[in-house]
Amino acid sequence: METKIGKTKLSLIQGDITLQDTEAIVNAANTSLLGGGGVDGAIHRAGGPKILEECKEIRAKQGGCPTGEAVITSGGNMATRYVIHTVGPVWSGGNRDEKQLLRNAYYNSLNLAKENGIKSISFPSISTGVYRFPIDKAARIALTTVKEFIEEYDFVEVRFALFSERDLKVYEEVLKEVT
Ligand code: APR
Repeated sequence: METKIGKTKLSLIQGDITLQDTEAIVNAANTSLLGGGGVDGAIHRAGGPKILEECKEIRAKQGGCPTGEAVITSGGNMATRYVIHTVGPVWSGGNRDEKQLLRNAYYNSLNLAKENGIKSISFPSISTGVYRFPIDKAARIALTTVKEFIEEYDFVEVRFALFSERDLKVYEEVLKEVT
């Protein structure tokens, strides 16, 4: 499914984030930036050791990456040129500022792409795996944050690469509601 908001194409696909040919892809990282499972594991595997080396350089400068913040590395061996690593919140019932932190993760990733002149970016469904954020709530936060950002700033494309048919359907339903 895809729609146009301003000049930006907003698209939802089922697929593997590591295979996306947008200029940047977003990693669902953790605060250590030292890799993990899920999206994080897939990106480090596909991107190769260069990505971890660059993450370690970032750690040496600023420590890790706080929840809701974002940092940028190259794409290593992948087709994409950049990986924007962001850290979503762990869901713990919704009373620990999780919604704002997830919003921040999307906003700061988009803002970092803008600062680097990146014109197309792919997101996974941040925080809805190991971090257990309910996917319908997360999809609404993700799509609302992206919509508000691209109403003010033009990308060529913002894409969501959802790993399962079920996740894609949730995002498609929410997209219909928020646009
Ligand atoms: N491409 C696209 N989506 C994927 C992929 C992939 N290759 N692999 C997993 N997903 C989906 C999951 O199905 C889930 O819907 O991405 C979503 C996010 O899942 P996680 O990767 O578990 O990310 P998150 O919930 O944000 O947890 C982050 O997990 O891997 C660790 O180091 C990471 O500690 C961090 C935590």
